[in-house]
Amino acid sequence: MVVKLGGSVITDKEREFSIRRGTIRRLARELRGVKGIVLVHGGGSFGHPLARRYGLTGGLRGPEQLRGFAEVRRAMERLNLRVVEELGREGLRAVPVPPSACCLLEGGEVKTMELGPVKEMAELGLLPVLYGDAVVDLAQGINILSGDKLAVHLALRLGASRVVVGVDVDGVFTEDPRRNPKAELIKVITPREWERMRPSFSSRGCDVTGGMLGKVRELLRLAEGGIEAQIVNASRRGVLRRALEGDRSLGTLIRG
Ligand code: IPE
Repeated sequence: MVVKLGGSVITDKEREFSIRRGTIRRLARELRGVKGIVLVHGGGSFGHPLARRYGLTGGLRGPEQLRGFAEVRRAMERLNLRVVEELGREGLRAVPVPPSACCLLEGGEVKTMELGPVKEMAELGLLPVLYGDAVVDLAQGINILSGDKLAVHLALRLGASRVVVGVDVDGVFTEDPRRNPKAELIKVITPREWERMRPSFSSRGCDVTGGMLGKVRELLRLAEGGIEAQIVNASRRGVLRRALEGDRSLGTLIRG
């Protein structure tokens, strides 16, 4: 199983470089004892504001972006270290794996990725922890690889059974539930229906990788590979655990 924890869950997206330590510890306890997981986390307030400031999704245009690349990489290393340390304190054998060191993009898509170490670690009973990152792009020089895109790539290549994505809302809604109380939760999304039902809302705060729409667009690629994805509210206690245990009534299911 590939599990992605959104940056809005593990950091405070409104305050730069602020981590939600208690939430990470609780999620660690919810992950405890579940076998065969590869974990991915997002950038939240460590990744997005810097990536936006330096315009990194637009590729390499000058020395400013190189500086931004280095800053984002260091910020993401710091966040990742904080995350694996908190997971470790709850007894998980969490191992940092920096995507920028084993992955190359081309036009924003993963071109090559060395997955041998991740696979072997998971098989040994370790918990590899990857993250959305600033990555070298063969066409654009540099780019941002979102944790969602990474999770999808990992799931397809590793032959995962499911992908569970933890966010800070109850799933995918017809409109932004924070702005419109009439917004309805979409229980199931299939590739065929998506074009018709695609809601139009933008996500809160700073997000350089497309918010909820970008997330669904990525996860729909799993359906082609016969892999089910589930978007659940990991900010609510116990929800991630229940999803990991197979409760498909939670959040939004994305399947073929
Ligand atoms: C973004 O990853 C990574 C960077 C901006 C460096 P994600 O797009 O997966 O992050 P979240 O989950 O939205 O915060």
